[in-house]
Amino acid sequence: MPKASQQGLKVLLRHSRIRQRVRQLARQIERDYKGQPLHLICILKGACIFLADLLRELKLPVSVDFIAVSSYGKGSLPSGEVRITKDLDQSIEGLNVIIVEDILDTGLTLNYLYRILQSRKPKTLKIAALLDKPARRIKEVPVDYIGFKIPDAFVVGYGLDYGERYRNLPDVCVVPTVEA
Ligand code: PRP
Repeated sequence: MPKASQQGLKVLLRHSRIRQRVRQLARQIERDYKGQPLHLICILKGACIFLADLLRELKLPVSVDFIAVSSYGKGSLPSGEVRITKDLDQSIEGLNVIIVEDILDTGLTLNYLYRILQSRKPKTLKIAALLDKPARRIKEVPVDYIGFKIPDAFVVGYGLDYGERYRNLPDVCVVPTVEA
């Protein structure tokens, strides 16, 4: 694959730095859960790489599930409405759940999902987001584990896409020609 710079992208977070931060988050999670089983919920598709790396770092009994959502109103007036397009395979009742997300932007997706999942009676419910773009926040979200706070730029790589491209870039990069 051509280098990010050859594709007109600017590296924001190198993979080595992301790897190091994911390790730190895993240690923090291990301290918080003290050997208890943990259930990770990955929000498709962008969080798949973060999930895969975090999962392999965690020295705890871990299970995983996946959920997919589509949001309305993105790019225009956000309605805050989110539709589940693929639901979880199993009940989360009584489980220690962490929602794993790649990026927290307006907060609409996580705000909605957090409320939906909370209503399904998990024992505990937390959120881990690799990237946080606070400048764009519309809805507040209780995030427990944040990888990096980033500026208001359009980012791709490490699972994040632009028109389904670039998810396979190891680094998180800025697309300078696209507005956030
Ligand atoms: C992105 C990202 C989050 C959401 C964050 O998903 O993965 O799920 O947007 O935005 P918000 O905080 O403004 O709600 P996207 O809709 O691009 O889907 P994808 O993960 O399948 O690429």
